[in-house]
Amino acid sequence: MTENGRTKMTTVKLQEMKANKRRISMVTAYDYPTARVVEEAGVDLILVGDSLGMVVLGHETTLPVTIDDMVHHTKAVKRGAPNTFVVADMPFLSAHVSIAETVRNAGCLIQEAGADAVKLEGGREMLEEIRALLKANIPVMGHLGLTPQAVNRLGGFKLQGKDAESAKRILHDAILLQEAGCFAIVLELVPAPLAEMISERLSIPTIGIGAGAGCDGQVLVIHDLLGITNQYIPRFVKQYAGLYETMVDAVRTYAQEVREGTFPGPDHQFGMKEEVIAALKRELQP
Ligand code: KIV
Repeated sequence: MTENGRTKMTTVKLQEMKANKRRISMVTAYDYPTARVVEEAGVDLILVGDSLGMVVLGHETTLPVTIDDMVHHTKAVKRGAPNTFVVADMPFLSAHVSIAETVRNAGCLIQEAGADAVKLEGGREMLEEIRALLKANIPVMGHLGLTPQAVNRLGGFKLQGKDAESAKRILHDAILLQEAGCFAIVLELVPAPLAEMISERLSIPTIGIGAGAGCDGQVLVIHDLLGITNQYIPRFVKQYAGLYETMVDAVRTYAQEVREGTFPGPDHQFGMKEEVIAALKRELQP
């Protein structure tokens, strides 16, 4: 049982949720204050996604994100959400150089940063790595469809699995990931009927983003969900708040009040005893 009275999420409970047709909520977080919000809101899973590179660090893709970035941000998220199951992304190249390096990198996310599981992009080509991680008792979430680390090969952030051949490949990859031992699979930017078929075929949960309502769970990037950005928002995102304008207005008002001299007012400063002021004034006399 956690401090907020919920029982802590596990990979086994996620399978039970799927079996009992209970939908799974996942949201990204990259820092301490956001993780606190997500934990208080009672979300099932937090993803420290390598979308960090785009959403928080201002890069155009996720490719510049390193394992050190992921460790740094996952640590902050764990401090903010100690009672929530945290999945940390394996960033670009961190699972591609060698099996030994893959296990060591994932080990840093678990042992040093405190993640409960790792997420790995890719299908059949990643089976050896997935098996090695499971051998080291590191739970693995798969990621199929649009895999943003392959953006240059895919030619952009585009819908995947539109034709029969590519849809079949994604379906078969999903089955292979389940057989290899993944506890769940993210399906990103695939047609809703394909995601529904995959979800029906698998016994492990699918977590969709831009993959329709037939998935066993959903994930959104927290900045998109809260509207903490005025940049491009994909069509599949629902914004539950529009915090960007609120934040700009608040900062603009603050700057204006500083210029006018109305901030800080009496409520936002500290006084001094009269005798101390008098002593200081005496000190200043020539
Ligand atoms: O990095 C990320 O945030 C992700 C989600 C979009 C699934 O992989």
